[in-house]
Order: sequence, then C-alpha cells, then structure tokens
Amino acid sequence: MGKIAVTDGMAPEAVETLQKAGYEVTLGFIEQHDLLSGGLSEYDAIIVRSATKLGKEVIEANPNLKIIGRAGVGVDNIDLETAGKNGIMVVNAPNASTQSVVELTIGHLLSSMRHVAKADRGIRAGKWEKKRLKGTELSGKCLGLIGFGRIAQGVAKVAQSLGMEIHTYDPYLPAKVAKSQGAYLHKEIDSLFETCTHISIHCNLTKETHHLVNEKRMSLMPGRKGGINCGNHIVNCARGGIIDEDALLAALKSGVIRSAALDVFEIEPIEENNELVQHENFHGTPHIGAATKEAQQRVGLDIAEAVILGLSGEKPPTLVNKEFF
Ligand code: MLT
Repeated sequence: MGKIAVTDGMAPEAVETLQKAGYEVTLGFIEQHDLLSGGLSEYDAIIVRSATKLGKEVIEANPNLKIIGRAGVGVDNIDLETAGKNGIMVVNAPNASTQSVVELTIGHLLSSMRHVAKADRGIRAGKWEKKRLKGTELSGKCLGLIGFGRIAQGVAKVAQSLGMEIHTYDPYLPAKVAKSQGAYLHKEIDSLFETCTHISIHCNLTKETHHLVNEKRMSLMPGRKGGINCGNHIVNCARGGIIDEDALLAALKSGVIRSAALDVFEIEPIEENNELVQHENFHGTPHIGAATKEAQQRVGLDIAEAVILGLSGEKPPTLVNKEFF
C-alpha cells in the first residue's frame, strides 16, 4: 500500500497503527548523506523528531514524498517552503507533549530556586553546603513568559498556583486571551525583561526570535522583588538559538543572571568543553521536554493518524504548510 520511514524512533503503538492501516514501516536513522542522495525515493512518507534535518536539498532530492510527519511540535528542522513547493504536506503533533513540557519547565524553575542540581553535585562530592544553598521562593515573583501558547499557558497556571505573577510578551496573542488567563500582556519585549526576575521561553525559533534573549535584554532584569534580592533566572525548554548562549555565559559570570536552566541548545547534542554547561549556576537537560512515556505515546498516535489521513488524500487537522490551506 505504501512505505513510511520512521527515522528518530516512535512509540510501538504508533508503529502498529501505521502497520494496521496497511503501511510498511521502516525504523532507523538515515544519515544526511543518504537522505541527500535520494535515500527516501521509495517512501511515501517520513516521520521524524528533531534529529533528522529535512532541509531544502534533502527535500529536493526526494520529491516522491507525499507527506512529512514531525512527531512533536517544532518544525524548524524542516524546510516548509521547499516541501510546499514540491507538493509535500508537513504535519506535526502540537498538543501531545504540552503537559510534559509544562512539568519540565516548572521542575527547572523550582530546581533553580532551591539549587537542587548544585546541591546534588555538592552532596555527591561529600560536601554539606547548607549555608551556601539558601534559595528564594517562586511565590510573589514575576514570571515573564516569552510566547503564550498552550505550553506557556500551562506553565502560567501552575506558577499562579505557586503564587507567581504572570507576565507575557507575544505579538500574535489577542489581549483578551492574556486577560482571561490572568496574565499581563506587554507590548514591548524590553518591558517584560524590565519587570520580571524569572523568564521562561515558549516561542518558536524563527529569524525574528533568534537571539531574542541577548546581553542587552538580560541586563534590563530587576534582580529583586518586594525587597528580596532573588536575582534573575532564565529557563528555556522551547528551542536552542533563542538565547544567545555566549551572552548567557557572560551574564552568569558577571552575576547579571543568577541561574540558567536549559533543556535546549543552539547546537545539539552539545559539543565537548561547552563552558556554559560547566558554570556552577547552570543546570541542564538534554532536550527531554517531550520525553515522557505519556507524551511519546500521544505524539506517536497523533502523528500516525495525521500521516494516514494525509496519505489517504484527506487534509489532516495539524497540517503546517500554508500551500495546502
Ligand atoms: C518538540 O518540538 O516537540 C520537542 O522539542 C521534542 C522534540 O523535538 O523531540
């Protein structure tokens, strides 16, 4: 009936769904040079996560593809324009991992405030650094969310329950949405930084958002709230490249930023001798926002369903490229 390549892994239930629909599924990573030399020419569809890069040249080398499934949210590893020009649909699974990313973001915020990672590093080295590890509460602080989509709104809800005040900057957001969630919508991103001691990133990586968090903006952050010198804190579970990592390291060194917690990096996997991740006020995770059993099961099933719909000539609800609307 048709062949589907799944290159970055997928939940077994989702593979089964594709097979039950009559498709032959090939599981396994395909190297860039093989993709570039037409390695997908026998396939009707490819399903990827973030490791497989489907740039212009790769797509042009495989024009037989009918649909690209992105098992996740971000489509920055796929050249949407080239896919559209070649009549290839791109679908994603935008809702399935929301709760998992919300929970990791809150986990990073809490870990930063209470030095959980730093304390663990000390305790493993036999140190009992009780005095050095005095933290601050999240309660009463201003959390600035860059982007206010599903994940940011989920983070806002939990943070509000911890007593945080929610601020956001999202140029695409109708003011009434922010209002309905009890968030203050800033018209200018700089004013978000001037107000908030805690910033969490929840936007896509685009030309406009590349290095949106930079030296100048971090230096605007107030570092205190309500008489408490809590310092400034940054969390990113969205996409690498939105923060200028060199500027972040400099801000950690100078104390402008007191803690940084990243799940995503400009270059993934990170390169050896990455000075940022060695900084004592840094802690990180290797792009695991959506890596829960629940999210991966939902992501897999959502993307399998969308790919089956697309291959049967219907328009999947999570179609991303505008040429098909
Ligand atoms: C996503 O965009 O869905 C997440 O970052 C997870 C991933 O890339 O695998």
